[in-house]
Amino acid sequence: MDRTETDFEPTIVAMVCNWCTYTAADLAGTARMIQSPNVRLIRMMCTGMVDPKYVIKALLSGADAVLISGCHPGDCHYINGNYKARRRVKLLQEILPRFGIEQERLKLTWIGASDGNEFAATINELTKRIKELGPSAAKSTMVI
Ligand code: FES
Repeated sequence: MDRTETDFEPTIVAMVCNWCTYTAADLAGTARMIQSPNVRLIRMMCTGMVDPKYVIKALLSGADAVLISGCHPGDCHYINGNYKARRRVKLLQEILPRFGIEQERLKLTWIGASDGNEFAATINELTKRIKELGPSAAKSTMVI
């Protein structure tokens, strides 16, 4: 069955830091904030652990978008992991169009542990944007 724009439900992989964004996601869930069910969370100790290969692999394996989210600059529990993540995301966003993947399919945010509202809003906004973009073209070129 062909998917139309109206029934397209994107798959979004979120690689989130244990100390900040994962806690915010937990807070959003326990507070029953309304959030899109399209996100698959991957809990990591720090955004500095997100190898660019993980992002490319996720996008080539069926994810329509990847969100990386962690502690605000200056708050990383491993001092500079989030700065490493920021540099990697910038480079990935330059490389992704060569794979036919729009830059908007990779997003980096900083969401603190007490920001459940911000987590839910980020998820809802990203899901809306990816629905507008449609399915990732990389899905059709997947070789598994
Ligand atoms: S510990 Fe949260 S981004 Fe490094």
